[in-house]
Amino acid sequence: MGTVVVFGSFVTDLTSRSNGLPVPGQTILGNSFNIGPGGKGSNQAVAAHRCGADVQMVTKVGDDVFGTSIKDFYKKEGMDTSFFFTDPRKATGAALIMVDEETGQNMIVVTGGACQNITKDEVEKCRPLIESASILLLQLEINFDALFEVVKIAHNAGVTVVLNPAPANDLPGEIMAMIDIVTPNETEARAFTGIDVKTKDDAKKAAEAFFKMGVKQVVITMGSLGAYANNGQKDELLPCLPVKAVDTTGAGDAFNGAFVTALSEGKDLFEALRFGIAGGSLSTTKLGTAPAMPTRNEIDAALKG
Ligand code: RIB
Repeated sequence: MGTVVVFGSFVTDLTSRSNGLPVPGQTILGNSFNIGPGGKGSNQAVAAHRCGADVQMVTKVGDDVFGTSIKDFYKKEGMDTSFFFTDPRKATGAALIMVDEETGQNMIVVTGGACQNITKDEVEKCRPLIESASILLLQLEINFDALFEVVKIAHNAGVTVVLNPAPANDLPGEIMAMIDIVTPNETEARAFTGIDVKTKDDAKKAAEAFFKMGVKQVVITMGSLGAYANNGQKDELLPCLPVKAVDTTGAGDAFNGAFVTALSEGKDLFEALRFGIAGGSLSTTKLGTAPAMPTRNEIDAALKG
């Protein structure tokens, strides 16, 4: 089993749960509030670790209480923090999350803070780690100059580059051409390809648009419809597990963490899709993001049953 390097964001999630979501200019009363670890990068690293992957998280935090508390969380999880850089000037990032308890829908504003300020020197310090990885997993919550450098290092070393393009943003064609597997959700797929992904046929068209950009394999998570994979020869849309969802925040992160774990164990794209879907589905049965990531035993049991 090869090492999975997740090079991405850590931010603190500040989550309010309420009946409905406010519209601009409106104040509504919340039912509960929670502070916990988040950030798409870190959530995906925690998910992969709980699935049994050999994971190394690279991120940057501020010299503040949130930076310290995520290191404590990683210690409790048995995860390494030696590639957590600390910014002396910028604060640890934060995400303001509102969850509608009635529909499960959420709204998120992420301010990356320190993890949007990763320097060239820090990327260079990670070069040996990236070059010796089997998979590099990225999202779009860190600064693009660092992202670009990291993709180039991994691509030139023959490391499999998996990009979860979330939140959607413009990326130069040069980066897309170095991505082995892209894993957008349906909204991100539309932002990149202009195709509304509602059916398997739509997903196939979006996948073909990604192939034209130079991406080798495409996975699209499609919410309650499940997830789709296309390796250029074959494609498949698999359903979610039948679970009682209480919070869908971070489900995409759980999917990505589980998906890359399966790939790092040598499973093919479609087996990894099935494992990722189980991870994503189970994460929705618990509240929160990183703390809601399912364990390997939970996923194996769900896949057997
Ligand atoms: O994908 C969910 C994550 O997105 C949250 O944890 C929040 O931090 C944002 O980055």
